[in-house]
Amino acid sequence: NPADLHAVRGEILHFLADPASHGEAAIEHFADGLLLIRDGHVAETGPAGELLARLPADVPVTDYRGKLILPGFVDTHIHYAQTDIIASHGEQLLAWLEKYTFPAEARFADPEHARAVAEFFCDELLRNGTTTALAFATVHATSVDALFEAALKRRMRMITGKVMMDRHCPDFLRDTAAGGYAESQALIERWHGRERLQYAVTPRFAATSTPEQMRLAGRLYAEHPGLYLQSHVAENRGEVAWVAKLYPEARSYLDVYDRFGQLGMRSVYAHCIWLDDTDRRRMADTGAAVSFCPTSNLFLGSGLFDFGRARELGLRVGIGTDVGAGTSFSMLQTLNEAYKVLQLGGQKLSAASAFHLATLGGAHSLYLDERIGNFLPGKEADFVVLDPAATPLLARRMQGAQTLDERLFVLMMLGDDRSIAATHVLGRVAWQRPG
Ligand code: GUN
Ligand code: ZN
Repeated sequence: NPADLHAVRGEILHFLADPASHGEAAIEHFADGLLLIRDGHVAETGPAGELLARLPADVPVTDYRGKLILPGFVDTHIHYAQTDIIASHGEQLLAWLEKYTFPAEARFADPEHARAVAEFFCDELLRNGTTTALAFATVHATSVDALFEAALKRRMRMITGKVMMDRHCPDFLRDTAAGGYAESQALIERWHGRERLQYAVTPRFAATSTPEQMRLAGRLYAEHPGLYLQSHVAENRGEVAWVAKLYPEARSYLDVYDRFGQLGMRSVYAHCIWLDDTDRRRMADTGAAVSFCPTSNLFLGSGLFDFGRARELGLRVGIGTDVGAGTSFSMLQTLNEAYKVLQLGGQKLSAASAFHLATLGGAHSLYLDERIGNFLPGKEADFVVLDPAATPLLARRMQGAQTLDERLFVLMMLGDDRSIAATHVLGRVAWQRPG
């Protein structure tokens, strides 16, 4: 088998477009489907009977019948260095950063610690069916090396960058405008574009960077083709008021980033809760994306993201776990909470829209939809194998679910890491549930 041709058989579901705007035509579903993989990429997808009848008899087929095969999940906002402070009690954003986050991130000055956490983090993503992530590292350049190395070993799509932070933080976590720029530059040269790894310029948020650092972050983002930029905006009302004081000349919090050239294609802003329509239009016009982080927004009491308005104004939106302010690595649990956030705003999230958000929508928000996000021929064969009967309750509730929509909804409400039977990266098994 020189071309490394192999196939998986099971119920297959993927999206060709956004079901919110394209309806049923956006969804392709094969109750008994075959996904044919050549050299780690999708060769063909279709009904199993039809494809098997014309394929050479010696093509190996992994039998996942009874399971649901979806494109690998895309987590558009997560902090690998906050893995160990997930579930820390009692604070909203600014106090939570001081009390839990900064001390945890300080430990990443030790490359051994960074390596150990990076290994755990990548395994935990795969255990949850996540094959692509846009992640924050810490201010330490070696923390970026550790995450890229762990992802490289597993052949995952990973985008990360060194946090730039030169004020309003403990001095053991502070860089300088010039030093942060130079260190980022060196990391870009070392990692950006290597295998499936890409670099993101990472000013933490406007409050922890001086105007000089903001200027240099914008410059870096403009200097290298294909770079990402990730930050936080308009998450918490106290934070918004603070940024207004720090940058009195800006029209809004988002406008601070705009003034420093930090809005554009492949720029991704977590939260975007306290924006107005001028901000939203500016994001849509520049091609900047939102990462909607429901478990984090509820956990820190930050507020409710207006998904409906973002959609009306044509913003790119992906979904993020935002661990460690987020409370789960599971994209299923994150979709569950997204549904509830929309409920609180009088909006509805269909199961199809939810799974689109976690796959093709996330890929689109990261400008990666030419490579990942669905099973069109030529796409990278990252996929997740979901067990619809992973727990007694899931199995029982599934019996009463008639339509595909109902089954998907039950899966996103009741599913979690136990529902992930296997995760494949570039065709190969990267995680398999024991037993
Ligand atoms: N704003 C600035 N830094 C952070 C962070 O680490 N987590 C969250 N949720 N918001 C932030
Ligand atoms: Zn975050």
